[in-house]
Amino acid sequence: MRIQPFVNAGLRVLALAAAAGAVQFALAHGSKHTRAQLQAFEAAFMEQVRIGDLLFHGDPETEKQLGVSLSQTGMACAMCHPYGSDTHPYEFPKWQEQMGEFATLRDMINWCIEKPNQGTKIDGDSEAMKALEAYIYWSNRGSSLDPGRH
Ligand code: HEC
Repeated sequence: MRIQPFVNAGLRVLALAAAAGAVQFALAHGSKHTRAQLQAFEAAFMEQVRIGDLLFHGDPETEKQLGVSLSQTGMACAMCHPYGSDTHPYEFPKWQEQMGEFATLRDMINWCIEKPNQGTKIDGDSEAMKALEAYIYWSNRGSSLDPGRH
């Protein structure tokens, strides 16, 4: 099949529409952010890191507020993963041997909650999950993405 005539016709329609102002191109990268916006984004991120830090260290008040029970053994995440060590967020998604399946970071956070911690698995979209994820990524900032690695 010859597709060139279709491409040419398509380009002509696009050019006409653009000339008539009918098409607005939505670029993935919009306008630059202001300094105030950047500060607000950073503050929102660091607030999640702060909450995740508390959860990672087993703070009972924060668990209660968010309605989660991350450990029944008296062991908090930070006792086995000080400063987020050995959590390897940059390796996900990857084949996870312990689970025998292809897993995301959130799957593995839940694996640790259920297995070593004997806690209650949390919702993948919950506030607690987002905060734990923020803390783990923040602790490993500067690492290069290397999905699939072990
Ligand atoms: C009793 C020790 C222990 C505690 C407590 C613990 N973990 Fe783990 N964690 C492990 C072990 C063991 C592994 C598997 C290590 C591996 O895969 O190399 C692991 C692996 C992980 C991984 C995946 C690392 C990888 O590359 O596969 C993440 C993410 C993780 N833990 C997060 C958490 C979080 C979040 C908590 C708290 C809710 C937690 N862990 C509590 C022992 C623990």
